[in-house]
Amino acid sequence: MKVAVIGAAGGIGQPLSLLLKLSPLVDELTMYDLVNTPGIAADLNHIDTDAKVTGCLADEGFEGALQNADLVVIPAGIPRKPGMTRDDLFAINGGIISNIAENCAKSCPKAHILVISNPVNSTVAIFAEVFKKCGVYDPRRLYGVTTLDLVRANSFISELSGGKLQSKDLNVTVIGGHSGETIVPIFSHNSNSQLVSFYESLSMEQRDSLIHRVQFGGDEIVTAKKGQGSATLSMAYSGFRLAESLMKAIAGETNIIESAYIQLDQSIQGSTEVKSYIASKGLTDVEYISLPIKLGPRGVESIEFDILNHINENEEELLSTCLEQLKGNIAKGVDFVKGAN
Ligand code: NAI
Repeated sequence: MKVAVIGAAGGIGQPLSLLLKLSPLVDELTMYDLVNTPGIAADLNHIDTDAKVTGCLADEGFEGALQNADLVVIPAGIPRKPGMTRDDLFAINGGIISNIAENCAKSCPKAHILVISNPVNSTVAIFAEVFKKCGVYDPRRLYGVTTLDLVRANSFISELSGGKLQSKDLNVTVIGGHSGETIVPIFSHNSNSQLVSFYESLSMEQRDSLIHRVQFGGDEIVTAKKGQGSATLSMAYSGFRLAESLMKAIAGETNIIESAYIQLDQSIQGSTEVKSYIASKGLTDVEYISLPIKLGPRGVESIEFDILNHINENEEELLSTCLEQLKGNIAKGVDFVKGAN
C-alpha cells in the first residue's frame, strides 16, 4: 500500500503522516509539500515501523510522490483565520486542488483520493470535474473527508452526558456537507439506544445548542488558536480513521462503514434512492452529499441511506437548509473548472 500525503508539512499533514507511519497497513508513504518534507520524512524514518517514508518537494514535481499511489490524502492549502468561513478559502484552495487533481489524473488516476482541503463542499466537485475533463473519473474513489464532524458529535454528546455516554461506544451519524449549516448531526436515531434516550432527555435549548456546537465546532478551534490555524490534530486523527478503514476495505475486509462526502452516481448502490429523497424536497442539482457509506476494494460500494427514513422533523428541516446551501457550494466548484475552459 503506497499512500501519498499532499500538503504533508502542514498542521494536519505532519500528524497525519505520523499516524500513517505507525500503521502496519502502509508499506510506503510519500510526503509532498512546497517546503520541509525531506527533513520531516528523515525524522519519521527513525521510527521503528516498516513503512518507508520519502519527502518530496514541489520543485521536483508530483510524479515521485504520486506514481503508483493507492491512496492520496490531501490537506494542502490554507486554513481559516478567526472570522473566516470555509468558503473564504475557495479562491486559493480551489486553484491548489485543481492543480493537484491534474497531477493525480496523470500519475495515479486509479488511486483513492481523500480531500481534506476546505471548502470540502466545493473542492471535491473541483477535483471531480478535473478528473472528468481528463477522462479518468471514478466517483467510487473520490471522498471528501467529513469524519471530523462525527468525531466531534461523539465527543460533544459524551461531554454533555458527564461521561455517562462513553465516546468508545458512540458513533453518531452526521450527514450533509462540511461547513456550518450544511453539517447535520442525527442524534434522534442510532443503534445505541442509550444515546437516543439521553438525547431525548435534553431540553429543546440543550438539543439546539448541541447541534449548533457540532455545526460550528471548528470555530471553537479557530478562535482558541488565535489566528494560528484551524483543527489539525483532531483532523489528522479523523483523516487517518477514514484512510485506515479504506485501506482495510481495499485489503478485503468486509462490512466497513464510514461517512464521507461523495458524488451520487449510478455506479454506487443507493444513489438513486438518495436522489429521489432530495428531489422530494423540491431540489435538483445536489449531486454530492456526505452519508454513511460501505467501503470495498473498489471504493464506495453503497450508500447506507436508511438513516434518511428515520430522521425527525427538526433534522429534516436542518437537512433542507443544508441541501439548499450544498447546491450553491457544488455549483461554485463545478463552475470553477468549467469556467477555466
Ligand atoms: P497548514 O497551513 O498548516 O498546512 C497546509 C500545507 O499545505 C502547508 O504545509 C503548505 O505548504 C501546503 N501547501 C500549500 N499549497 C500547496 C500546494 N500547491 N501543493 C502542496 N502543498 C501545498 O494548514 P492545515 O491546518 O494543515 O489545513 C490544511 C487544509 O485542511 C485547510 O484547507 C483547512 O481548511 C482544511 N481542514 C479541513 C478539515 C476537514 O474536516 N475536512 C478540518 C480542518 C482543516
